[in-house]
Amino acid sequence: MPTHSEPKKITTHTLAKMKASGEKISMITAYDFSFARLFDAAGIDVVLVGDSASNVMAGYETTVPITLEQMIYHGQCVVRGIHRSLVVVDMPFGSYQSNSDIALASAIRIMKETGAHSIKLEGGAEVVDSIQKIVSAGIPVMGHLGLTPQSIYKFGTYTVRAKEETEADKLRADALLLQQAGCFAIVFEKIPAALAKEVSESLSIPTIGIGAGNDCDGQVLVMHDMLGINNEFKPRFLRQYANLQDTIDNAVRQYIRDVKSKDFPSEKESY
Ligand code: KIV
Repeated sequence: MPTHSEPKKITTHTLAKMKASGEKISMITAYDFSFARLFDAAGIDVVLVGDSASNVMAGYETTVPITLEQMIYHGQCVVRGIHRSLVVVDMPFGSYQSNSDIALASAIRIMKETGAHSIKLEGGAEVVDSIQKIVSAGIPVMGHLGLTPQSIYKFGTYTVRAKEETEADKLRADALLLQQAGCFAIVFEKIPAALAKEVSESLSIPTIGIGAGNDCDGQVLVMHDMLGINNEFKPRFLRQYANLQDTIDNAVRQYIRDVKSKDFPSEKESY
């Protein structure tokens, strides 16, 4: 008889129960083993291997360039650090937009090669066929509406979406379509809080907000933003929980001084 049990793993069903009971869902991005392990141990509900890896890991200006192979690599690294959290891997630009067969093939590769529990993709009516096909194959899908960064060249800016009634109506309709297509949750990025509240209350599946107010069923932040690894990025929606840029800068400067002055390594730090 075991004396203690493993912590219960988070599944898509856990998230549905959390929405029903009013418990908010916590989600954060991760791209490697070490941070995934820390976030999982801290008790985060969902770890998103975001295609924001294109920005924060690869240094590109947009999420457009990152490839399926690169996302699979980041997914594999994250999954090795996870015991409890639900892992979602973003489908990168170009891996699902052409047609639903290509979308399914890409989703299957992500699931088989990373060991992740689900995938996320951006868009509404345009991608519903693909979502249905992926869900029918047994793969849980998270949707993503509002600001969809893979379409940045269509939008032209990263400002708040769905402020106009026509776009808000499309978001309402898209959210319902995604729910009907079988999505287990939807990310709302940078939309008015009142709209996010209204649509979240109208859906039976959980919504996860980023820049979408306090009435979504959960919240997500990019780890580099919330940990203050890049202090230049300070959008209104961001709450910064640490200032790792300064911490790391101070540590590395001190290390350089210690090496140059021959203070490091000391006798105790030598064999
Ligand atoms: O790629 C990402 O980090 C995301 C979040 C902003 C939701 O999609």
